[in-house]
Amino acid sequence: MAAGVGHPAAAGGPTRRAGGGHPAAAGAPVPRLAYGTAVSPPPTLRALAAGGPPLHGDALAALYDVPDRGTSWLRVNFVASLDGAVDVAGYSAGLSDPADRHLFGLLRMMADAVLVGAGTLRVEDYGPVRMGEQHRRWRLARGLPAHPTLVVVSRSLDLDPRRPSFADAPVRPVVLTCTAAPADRREALAATTDVVTAGDEATDLALALRLLRERGLRHILCEGGPHLLGELTAADLVDEVCLTVAPLLAGPGAGRITAGPPSPLRRMVLDRVLTAGDTLFLRYRRARDRP
Ligand SMILES: NC(=O)c1ccc[n+]([C@@H]2O[C@H](COP(=O)([O-])OP(=O)(O)OC[C@H]3O[C@@H](n4cnc5c(N)ncnc54)[C@H](OP(=O)(O)O)[C@@H]3O)[C@@H](O)[C@H]2O)c1
Repeated sequence: MAAGVGHPAAAGGPTRRAGGGHPAAAGAPVPRLAYGTAVSPPPTLRALAAGGPPLHGDALAALYDVPDRGTSWLRVNFVASLDGAVDVAGYSAGLSDPADRHLFGLLRMMADAVLVGAGTLRVEDYGPVRMGEQHRRWRLARGLPAHPTLVVVSRSLDLDPRRPSFADAPVRPVVLTCTAAPADRREALAATTDVVTAGDEATDLALALRLLRERGLRHILCEGGPHLLGELTAADLVDEVCLTVAPLLAGPGAGRITAGPPSPLRRMVLDRVLTAGDTLFLRYRRARDRP
């Protein structure tokens, strides 16, 4: 929304404090910006050109290319409603549509590993991460293994080793845990997964990503959930966010795509905007020159 236009604050109402109330602002001077104050020079706003050429196959995949497969890259993919809800009645399915599911599959196709918090794995009842024939061909043509590796983050290890996501996986999954995890569950999970310890009381995510890199897993696609994203953000490990904005007002109740303790502001750069019907697909990446 253009500052001051049609907003009650334009009539001398509330002010917005840049970074106000946010931990990033702690100790720093907090400028107060009144809505309706003339900005000079006026910022340039643009309408997105509607109706670009349809994007399919390799042309669409090219828009989501990983910058450099030789270096680590953590991409996050979420869907949220217009009013910010991360789920409908506890599941993301109510927010998704065929175009979102298509992109979801495309992003998986490009990943070395699909990273997910144990909460999402349990709630969404993840199955094995297995590529269809077309995606498999795309990967093999680029020298990638036929399927990405499923990587799950868990402290409790409250995960059934026989669940299909583990027992039927085409590639042996990895469970990233910590020293405090129960020894008996660790042993049980070792039947169907590689249990990797990084950190003491919780998984040290920066260390965990380094350990994945040592296994050749560099391009990581994180599919959530909110608590895992909150921790990745706090540790400044997020390189890219792909956000599907579903054309729905979900109303109050649901959480956001992030959860957990507050973390400093992280600025991102807009890289792509795509649409399919009324659904918006945003791709943001890490700002190179961080503030
Ligand atoms: N809209 C979307 O795109 C989207 C995407 C994903 C999920 N969701 C929704 O989000 C909800 C689940 O949210 P959530 O926040 O509970 O899920 P989550 O972030 O996937 O899972 C949280 C769990 O992950 C483990 N974990 C996270 N960080 C850890 C760390 N540093 N060390 C050790 N373990 C760690 C813990 O597992 P243990 O409890 O096993 O220790 C923790 O309880 C579901 O309703 C799902 O539908 C929506």
